[in-house]
Amino acid sequence: VLEEKDAVEAVRCPHAASRAHSLDAMPGPTKWPLVGSMFELHRKGGLNRQHEALVDYHKQYGKIFRMKLASFDSVNIGSPCLLESLYRKEGKYPQRLEIKPWTAYRDLRNEAYGLLILEGKDWQRVRSVFQQKLMKPTEVVKLDRKINEVLMDFMGRIGKINVNGRIKDLYFELNKWSFETICLVLYDNRFGLLKKEVNEEAMNFITAVKTMMSTFGMMMVTPVKLHKSLNTKRWQVHTEAWDRIFSTAKVYIDRRLKNNSARAPDDLIGDILHQSNLSKKELYAAITELQIGGVETTANAMLWAIFNLSRNPGAQRKLFEEIREVVAPDQDPCGEHIKSMPYLKACLKESMRLSPSVPFTSRTMDKDTVLGDYAIPKGTIVMINSHAMGTNEEYFEEGKRFKPERWLRENNNIHPFAHIPFGIGKRMCIGKRLAELQLQLAMCWLVREYEIVATDNEPLNVIHSGLLVPERELPVAFIKR
Ligand code: HEM
Repeated sequence: VLEEKDAVEAVRCPHAASRAHSLDAMPGPTKWPLVGSMFELHRKGGLNRQHEALVDYHKQYGKIFRMKLASFDSVNIGSPCLLESLYRKEGKYPQRLEIKPWTAYRDLRNEAYGLLILEGKDWQRVRSVFQQKLMKPTEVVKLDRKINEVLMDFMGRIGKINVNGRIKDLYFELNKWSFETICLVLYDNRFGLLKKEVNEEAMNFITAVKTMMSTFGMMMVTPVKLHKSLNTKRWQVHTEAWDRIFSTAKVYIDRRLKNNSARAPDDLIGDILHQSNLSKKELYAAITELQIGGVETTANAMLWAIFNLSRNPGAQRKLFEEIREVVAPDQDPCGEHIKSMPYLKACLKESMRLSPSVPFTSRTMDKDTVLGDYAIPKGTIVMINSHAMGTNEEYFEEGKRFKPERWLRENNNIHPFAHIPFGIGKRMCIGKRLAELQLQLAMCWLVREYEIVATDNEPLNVIHSGLLVPERELPVAFIKR
């Protein structure tokens, strides 16, 4: 997200401390013994509405506050300058909050860790292998053919299942689209999820990922060791889901490892599989986690882009005009076209600001660090509240409005650390460029063929369920142009 030049240009934080206070002096919601502010959060709508509670807490306590939820103790930051300060003090191997249910499964089955859960030197070793391909724009742009192959099928499917413009369970359809795309990129295999009759293996695979994702949240706030020793239903279901994910992924990775014939120029992952010196076990884990990281996030960002375009017909019209100017009617949109489409890029950026998929990320401090006015001890969990920043009027004028134009003005005054939908620093999302290309191409295909209209103008509540999702079916219709 943050290119070096942005970092250099970034304004100096006016809140930098001359004298740091201890963590105990940090404001925050009530910390009752054992439960912390669990009840208070519950009154504010519970974990499902935690993103809104965090916005409220930032209003009440300021840019930095401390919160305890049962045993989960964290420092929360919601200002670009504190984030910049954190970024500048980042060590060699930044750490995120450990996803204990995942590490517990890997340890149980003696499997390796992938990028989402690796730490230290091992994380850096694996990251550098994938980074060379996945973070390089000239490499990622080569994936446009594969992305388009799936998009063509997606458009066909939308055409068929569309009843008077409405698409039943649009989010699931988008998940199938992004699953199919990421699997084509990673395994060079089509699973056929966009066909009328989905085969059993593909359905099992996507269901296993869904089950695994829906069973780990509770084990983040209750000790996974306990679930494991009591062999709870949740632990069993979680473990079985991982077993199915790993066994399927391994079949396809093994198939690719066996076949070392000449690779197509867009076979980025094939190159990694054959040229890196990662072990087979490391490859299984890393590839599987790329898949886990890339499916619902991308589908979710597309869902919100569709919603925001439906509620902003003026912006959609402008986008349609740009697509028509750049892509000839007999051509498929491709990576080269995207380079000349600033409005498209601005629409996506604005949609991810207004409706982020991932509302926060985290860092576990690997050394004592001063942030703003406070001394943060090593081991503290710092939550980076990107959703709270994106919706703050202090950083975004008319922040509740969808205004892609804000990103096009040359001197736009937007703090370069105020918009971080893919995280920040060395540990930011490794799939950022792939996701952006996928989303930009999908927006081109969709808007070129359909006018996306709002079917009501009622507010749409947002809930936190790992990602930020709409509380009801999206009120949109796709009208053929
Ligand atoms: C990490 C968001 C798509 C794989 C992350 C993080 C965020 C994020 C916020 C945490 C970064 C940090 O802590 O600073 C998103 C969004 C996406 C998306 C919003 C889509 C719109 C993808 C895709 C892939 C992917 C397509 C796979 C190709 C990963 C992985 C990590 C990660 C492996 C961990 C990286 C590391 O720790 O080294 N993502 N992501 N993501 N994402 Fe994504």
